[in-house]
Amino acid sequence: MKVLVIHGPNLNLLGIREKDIYGNHDLSFVNEYIRQEAETLGLEVEIFQSNHEGEIIDRLQHAMGKVDGIIMNPGAFTHYSYAIADAIAGISIPTVEVHLSNIHGREEFRRKSVIAPVCIGQISGFAHVSYALALRALLEVSGKSER
Ligand code: DQA
Repeated sequence: MKVLVIHGPNLNLLGIREKDIYGNHDLSFVNEYIRQEAETLGLEVEIFQSNHEGEIIDRLQHAMGKVDGIIMNPGAFTHYSYAIADAIAGISIPTVEVHLSNIHGREEFRRKSVIAPVCIGQISGFAHVSYALALRALLEVSGKSER
């Protein structure tokens, strides 16, 4: 089973930006953690980061027929990108929305996701562990888990 992980805008600044909210780990730590968790679960993983809405949409469209599941942290696009939501709806690949912080305990504008309705679920608030939980969720719901 192949999973595409997409990190949206400003996630390349992890370890530098708002450490009180997002912690001290940088993106390469998070990516290494994702790769190790994927290996443990027997999943193939590809990781992509972009600060650009159009590039994220191109990457989603490119995934059609090539990956079995997507894990996406859309960053601030979570709260207003109908274009990314339409792309996820259009490609018919099971997608899990993840967040490092608990968006439901933050500012009002962060509590709404326009992406979540087109995802199979949302995992929010567990720092980098959110990504591992999403890998596990994709594996379980795809019915390919032997556990
Ligand atoms: C985030 C939450 C978003 O509201 C914010 O814009 C981010 C990161 C998170 O992972 O907690 O960039 O997606």
